Amino acid sequence: MEKLVIEGGAPIDGEVVISGAKNAVLPLLAATLLADGDMTIKNVPQLRDVNTTIRLLEGMGVTVSVDDEYNITTNTSTINSYVAPYDLVKTMRASILVLGPTLARYGEVEVSLPGGCAIGSRPVNIHLSGLEAMGADITVHEGFIRAKAKRLKGARIVMDKVTVTGTENLLMAAVLAEGTTILENAAREPEVVDLADCLNKMGASIIGAGTPTLVVQGVESLKGVEHSVVPDRIETGTFLAAAAITGGRVKTLKAAPDTLDAVLQKFRDAGAAVETGEDWIEVDMRGRTLKSVDITTDPHPGFPTDMQAQFMAMNTFAQGIGVVVETIFENRMMHVAELMRMGANIRLEGNTAIVAGMPELYGAPVMATDLRASASLILAGLAAKGTTIVDRIYHTDRGYEKIEIRLKKLGAQIERVSG
Ligand code: UD1
Repeated sequence: MEKLVIEGGAPIDGEVVISGAKNAVLPLLAATLLADGDMTIKNVPQLRDVNTTIRLLEGMGVTVSVDDEYNITTNTSTINSYVAPYDLVKTMRASILVLGPTLARYGEVEVSLPGGCAIGSRPVNIHLSGLEAMGADITVHEGFIRAKAKRLKGARIVMDKVTVTGTENLLMAAVLAEGTTILENAAREPEVVDLADCLNKMGASIIGAGTPTLVVQGVESLKGVEHSVVPDRIETGTFLAAAAITGGRVKTLKAAPDTLDAVLQKFRDAGAAVETGEDWIEVDMRGRTLKSVDITTDPHPGFPTDMQAQFMAMNTFAQGIGVVVETIFENRMMHVAELMRMGANIRLEGNTAIVAGMPELYGAPVMATDLRASASLILAGLAAKGTTIVDRIYHTDRGYEKIEIRLKKLGAQIERVSG
């Protein structure tokens, strides 16, 4: 199994080009199921989850080609199966995103029921009840969701919790439904907006993206288009956190500052100098003292749960006490125990972590438990004294493209080793 070996204390300074967003490319690839003709997705990050999605589409019979620049072109004229099997769904919960578009266009779909995952039970009840409200006939049996509908019908759907993939699934179903669908309490994440923009280019009629109410006028068909994925705001925030935690400087290029307001404010509160341009962000911590910050995760535009672990790592080195509250997922504190193995001083009470910053942490062998937890351990390793070995980095590879190569370019001493 591959690991990352990090020698802490190297100064981090430089520029890094941000990849397309993982959480945008997955729904966009699912949206290609709606397209008549060729559809091309550009600015695609080279991630394990993208490969899993390609395998999922190919398993359904979709023709998928990937060019030298990793642009992905799909054509659905060869589709011959409407099944998302367990072996793919279990490695990537976002496989659930094929549910809405496949049902809307082909009238039937079977998706293995995603089970719990490391960060919580993560149910899909809102996806299913929304589709039922649009007239789908849904059964859950022997671990599979089976859905059928001649043609979905527009409905007013109030989602009782803000759900990102739930909103995306219902949006991709509503675009081909008969009549008007109103999605209330919709997720406002930039990745939802990117999906809506792409669907509109394909011929859909969606208004309100980026607000809690989406109004969708169903159409008969959608055409294939070219679409470029928005920058990954979580990858951006993670590289900026590398500057903050090491007392260095990082400029992220091809980034989207307007998707990171809450995060950039927390970097400022932590004592960093933050500058932004149209498509870049710089965090400079040189000669400054890192201060603890209180964090409460919230749906967008609040502070993202996907940045919680990275700020927790920052707090372990910061001056003062920071309180970190996770409100989105019930079990997203597993990095706490690993950070404590490196000498962090954290008291965990349910989903609240009280972090007392320490002047130093020490390198140790640690284990990644999920994608963003793995990022927090890498960050801590960059700043800790001595050698940190991060195990189970297949989690990291799900969401960060060539992380060690890019961190190395910024000055980090980091190697990928096997065994
Ligand atoms: C997406 C992101 C993930 C991010 C999360 C929250 C993708 C591929 N993944 O995950 O990186 O951490 O948003 O920003 O975009 N819930 C229900 N019933 C449902 C659906 C969700 O109760 O039917 C609950 C979940 O258990 C959770 C909350 O709603 O407590 C938010 O989850 P959701 O936004 O759906 O997360 P994902 O879309 O899976």
